[in-house]
Amino acid sequence: MTTLVNYRVEDGLALIGLARPPVNALGQPLRAAILDACERAAADASVQAIILHGAHGLFCAGADIGEFGSEASFAAPDLPNLLLRLTALDKPLIAAIGTLALGGGLELALACGYRISEPDARLGLPEINLGLLPGAGGTQRLPRLIGVEPALDMMISGQPIGAGRAFELGLLDRLASGKESLLDDARAFARELLDQRAPAQRTSRFANPAESVAADFLSQFRAANEPRWKSRLAPRLVLAAVEAACNLPLAEGLVREHELFKEAEASKQSAALRHVFFAEREAGRIPGIEADIPLRRIEKVAVIGAGTMGGGIAMNFVNAGIPVALLEQKGEALDCGLANIRKNYEISVKRGKLTAAQLEQRMELLFGTLDYADLADADLVIEAVFEKLEIKQQVFRELDRLCKPGAILASNTSSLDVDVIAASTSRPQDVIGLHFFSPANVMRLLEVVRGKATAPDVLATTMKIAKRIGKLPVISGVCFGFIGNRMLEPYSREAHRLVLEGATPTQVDKVLTDLDLNMGVFSMLDLAGIDVNFLVRNSNRAAFAHDESYCRLGDELYAQGRHGQKTGRGFYLYEGRNRQEDYEVVALAERLAGELHVPRRPVGDQEIHDRCLFMLINEGIQLLDEGIALRASDIDLVWINGYGFPAHLGGPLHYAEQLGLDKVLAGIQHYRRTLGGYGEMWFKPAALLERLVAAGRARIEKI
Ligand code: 3HC
Ligand code: NAI
Repeated sequence: MTTLVNYRVEDGLALIGLARPPVNALGQPLRAAILDACERAAADASVQAIILHGAHGLFCAGADIGEFGSEASFAAPDLPNLLLRLTALDKPLIAAIGTLALGGGLELALACGYRISEPDARLGLPEINLGLLPGAGGTQRLPRLIGVEPALDMMISGQPIGAGRAFELGLLDRLASGKESLLDDARAFARELLDQRAPAQRTSRFANPAESVAADFLSQFRAANEPRWKSRLAPRLVLAAVEAACNLPLAEGLVREHELFKEAEASKQSAALRHVFFAEREAGRIPGIEADIPLRRIEKVAVIGAGTMGGGIAMNFVNAGIPVALLEQKGEALDCGLANIRKNYEISVKRGKLTAAQLEQRMELLFGTLDYADLADADLVIEAVFEKLEIKQQVFRELDRLCKPGAILASNTSSLDVDVIAASTSRPQDVIGLHFFSPANVMRLLEVVRGKATAPDVLATTMKIAKRIGKLPVISGVCFGFIGNRMLEPYSREAHRLVLEGATPTQVDKVLTDLDLNMGVFSMLDLAGIDVNFLVRNSNRAAFAHDESYCRLGDELYAQGRHGQKTGRGFYLYEGRNRQEDYEVVALAERLAGELHVPRRPVGDQEIHDRCLFMLINEGIQLLDEGIALRASDIDLVWINGYGFPAHLGGPLHYAEQLGLDKVLAGIQHYRRTLGGYGEMWFKPAALLERLVAAGRARIEKI
């Protein structure tokens, strides 16, 4: 017997403990070990019932994601067949679920005749987040057990449910008392079943799951949900599998599920989402810094500036139970900032996401002040004042004077040089950039900007605290715009220029939203504010001075006071949130093109796609080459989580790999040749892209 499972027999019960840390992922060796152990128990006449459990608490997080796309995924015993074998055992098999049963882990439990779980365990079918559907019977067995509607909800949302809810739904037969150990309760449950001479498999509640819903339920569900799936394949395959559960006997439904699963596994979308899964875990690793480096203690945080960003930043820490001192320069601004935070929480109370008591508890963790002396005991200070270097330097000099030794001093600057800010203190090793995205209490991305003097433990501590407040931290080096905004620059430049050449904002945005980006460039600029974008551009004007046409349309709109959604006019005209093309903007583009001698012509959608996307990708590759980004996958995470790039395309650099790096390079070279002086000015392939293509590499990495 391998060490992947613990096996013991006690008083007629076989206890089989899955022991493949950290999460009992069901790779081929563990599958084989489970089958061996179950067959051994089945063959042992002294065994009357079998309990399957997680040897170290957690039950099982599902199939081994690393196996997908390789032969190992279907190597015998494959998961569907292993589970079929378990359902055929003639002794009661009981899943004792500790902490977590996800994906194939929950399907393993569904193949058992009975299920008992810890009261605080979470159970779910998150395959959809990986571009998959449950592929080991989940789409067929769960609707039969709990009905189509809740089963579909679990599969389409991908969200786990708590054990209490699972018990109500009939997914669990028993909740453990929480007084004894889970295994003790499972043993007692097994004895009861044996005393009652219970069958090896309980009959499912719905022999025909179609009976659990109205006849038109699935068609209504499709009509209501399909638009928001955009071009995602997995939800459609989940629905097809549930349709099979409603229309076919179990054995045939399982065959259909397997076909659909294979289609999903082979899809580019699933490959992209699996890339994202591993990218998120990789982003936390910092080359050269040991995982066990001693961290600084963060028990008290201070935020300077209670404006748009400062308020949201403070909320993140308060939500995690960490007290925050919020400092402003004037009482009025402080009151206004605190009132905004309260208003935000009140909205959560109205939506039922927070209780009134929790709101008060959170507000009590917030302490407003006008006095820097109150920051003296803060472990982490985050500055979010106006984007002016002199003001930030002044703030950091003050912090240097007052903060305790070892306090981490962070800036939320979006464009200023973190090294220059650090140099205004006597402790640059303690200074770091923490670039939150707006709204800061909602957006998951956090660019952690490592200055040239930032100490390793400061970096490691901020990565850790970022995770504690629910963020996805990605490390960036210091440069104008860090990773995300620096890539936004060439992408938005091309969008502006294409409109001068003859495209319309609507056409450009549609090409991007057809690719499933959340928003097109122009809708995004209108939302963020054309004024905000103009000021950032202006602060770096010298870098673009050689191109007279550079974002001229945006500059003109700014000058006309068309600042986007908030003024009702920007690249589009707005009535509330509804936007429409504005022919004045099209006329303005025509006039500017004339003045700048930019020839107008019909612009095709492919050209829009290639120029915007290839320039975005090229800048990303350049950032990797410069060492600003540590990994291509980090760049993908920034654009997925900060800029609405679709996760099922895997982020811009994964998308480039799927398109083919040679095609991307050829496209850039094509526009360099065909766009005249403009092409020569901007369409310069990143040296790393050229090296990768010359070396015949398909993956983007630094070589
Ligand atoms: N397969 C392979 N590795 C997995 C895994 C899985 N299913 N789940 C987690 N891991 C690995 C992670 O990659 C990580 O490895 P690392 O330390 O080398 O980076 C390690 O386990 C710990 O994971 P986390 O860092 O994510 O730890 P957390 O405690 O934050 O989260 C978790 C644990 C909630 C289990 C989370 O990892 C998770 O959500 N995992 C994915 C679960 C999932 O999607 N299951 C469905 C798989 S598909 C399937 O089952 C198909 C079937 O229907 C046929
Ligand atoms: P804001 O104008 O809404 O808020 C700034 C606040 O700082 C104001 O309330 C002001 O009274 C206060 N303040 C100014 N000087 C101060 C001082 N010396 N001491 C204490 N308080 C002071 O600005 P916003 O949008 O919150 O931006 C803050 C920072 O965050 C800027 O550096 C900005 O570049 C950055 N940022 C902004 C994003 C956004 O989308 N708004 C996104 C990411 C970063």
